[in-house]
Amino acid sequence: MKVFVTRKIPTIAIEKLEAAGHTVDVWPERLPPDYDTLRQRVADCDGLLSMLSDRIDAALMDAAPRLTVIAQFAVGFNNIDVAAATERGIRVGNTPGVLTDATADTAAALLLAAARLIVPGHLDAISGQWLTWEPVGYLGQDLKGKTLGIVGMGRIGQAFAERMHGGWGMEILYYSRSPKPEAEKKLGAKSVDFDTLLAESDYISVHANLDDSTRYLFNAAAFKRMKPSTVFINTARGQHVVQSDLVEALRNGTIFAAGLDVTDPEPPSPDDPLLSLPNVVVAPHVGSATFSTRDAMARIAAQNLLAGLNNERLPWGVNAEASGRAKPS
Ligand code: DGY
Repeated sequence: MKVFVTRKIPTIAIEKLEAAGHTVDVWPERLPPDYDTLRQRVADCDGLLSMLSDRIDAALMDAAPRLTVIAQFAVGFNNIDVAAATERGIRVGNTPGVLTDATADTAAALLLAAARLIVPGHLDAISGQWLTWEPVGYLGQDLKGKTLGIVGMGRIGQAFAERMHGGWGMEILYYSRSPKPEAEKKLGAKSVDFDTLLAESDYISVHANLDDSTRYLFNAAAFKRMKPSTVFINTARGQHVVQSDLVEALRNGTIFAAGLDVTDPEPPSPDDPLLSLPNVVVAPHVGSATFSTRDAMARIAAQNLLAGLNNERLPWGVNAEASGRAKPS
């Protein structure tokens, strides 16, 4: 059977698919295929290995009548119309679990960098602007014993909370779809409503799935409820945030700083005002970017694809109710 892989990924996935006798077409460019090209390339494919930057909608599925499985190379899958896939019997899988630690580490790196103004200091150091030791220059925020508010207390949110509670004795508040008794027991985490989390946290970190209930949750009103010393971290999806409102909040001192691994859009245009603020650190969506994590993601995506091509349930499926698509003869 034929599979389209929308970007170069660790070769282990390609090897597994080829070893099973499938024909694998890998998009060779650094930039993703545009939507029309993707639609054409997948038209005669049975499987698709997709990235979070690929829009996979009903029209694309209809243009690919043989398509039985979509294996997303990410834990998030908001770029895929899962309901449309389910309606068509197409199985969809993702890569949960294996990127938890890498993403939690990225959130910690961004928190430290943003709280302690590491990036403006670095820029001054390399541009000759570091003039002297400054008694009141480059002043940041303390971490020890502060309150961390987690929005979306799933695997990654909990792993991040564990790091900050264990390492810096932070108190943990969380706002999540369901209660997390284990985190409450282990970390003393307290479930609170959204407004309480905004008002009482010194650090706020987003780990929620992106859906209609969380899209643009962080807007001007939300930033206004935060403390002026708040550091805002987002390693989930850029669309959780009204980015122009975040820029305004950072610019006028409504909040202290932000550390972002995700933006809206990605990448931001070079003249986006976000990029000229001194109190924001932006990473290029690298939450899961470690050698071993990307290998693990590739293995899981390949396992999902192989199962789907065999018309079996995916080991890491997100629409277990999809029955497998009847293929055209
Ligand atoms: C994901 O998996 O959803 C991350 O954003 C990228 O690894």
